Amino acid sequence: MTRDDARQRARELAKEHRSRGDALGWFEKLYVEAQGNAEHVPWADDEPHPLLADWLARERIEAGGGDGGASPALRRALVIGAGLGDDAEGLARAGFAVTAFDLSPTAIEWCRRRFPSSRVDYRVADLFAAPVEWQGAFDLVFECYTLQALPLGVRERAFEPIARFVARGGTLLVVTRGTDAHENVDELPLPLTPAELARFEHLGLARTDWLDVVTGEQLPLRRFRAVYRR
Ligand SMILES: C[S@@+](CC[C@H](N)C(=O)[O-])C[C@H]1O[C@@H](n2cnc3c(N)ncnc32)[C@H](O)[C@@H]1O
Repeated sequence: MTRDDARQRARELAKEHRSRGDALGWFEKLYVEAQGNAEHVPWADDEPHPLLADWLARERIEAGGGDGGASPALRRALVIGAGLGDDAEGLARAGFAVTAFDLSPTAIEWCRRRFPSSRVDYRVADLFAAPVEWQGAFDLVFECYTLQALPLGVRERAFEPIARFVARGGTLLVVTRGTDAHENVDELPLPLTPAELARFEHLGLARTDWLDVVTGEQLPLRRFRAVYRR
């Protein structure tokens, strides 16, 4: 299956489920259909997102270089919509104590199978009903491509729970497809606008960095990387 075929199938599944009033059920269906073959998962890249890797490298340099990563105090990171786990593993290698969750039990089982000796705590959880003890508990919250995969009506409710996970003094890092204005709101993934991302600033976070860039070897697209602090 080509990447284009995988994207097409994902769009079909999203549409089918949405027509039944179910905005989230297609993720699990997609992972089940993939039967362990990552070629069927259009966002599977087998490595941490380059915009995450770049940010981690820069943070390390600013923190004084070396292999210091997140130490000496092992900082806690939370990965939203973890998918197949590459970003979570990248954060664990950078020295974070990582919790990574996904709505899809099949995706989480897949992560555990892929990384049997991982230090990442992989959990099945719904962003909209996450454990209360996660509130304000993470020094770094990483969100990549989950918001853009949610239709507008669901997406607008997703900013608040994401913001709430960030501890005082903590950081939220968001990587997403970006646009100035929505075009076809019925097609997913739907890139985020700067105005949508500004919601985080109304939820007690301050934006500290903003990158607007065209990236991606296979699919060059406009992407935003936004950093917020509580
Ligand atoms: C487009 S994929 C991106 C996966 C991963 N972040 C990446 O960049 O490779 C979105 C992921 O979010 C998960 N997801 C969607 N809605 C969710 C929710 N309400 N709670 C937790 N995970 C969710 C999906 O199962 C899927 O794995």
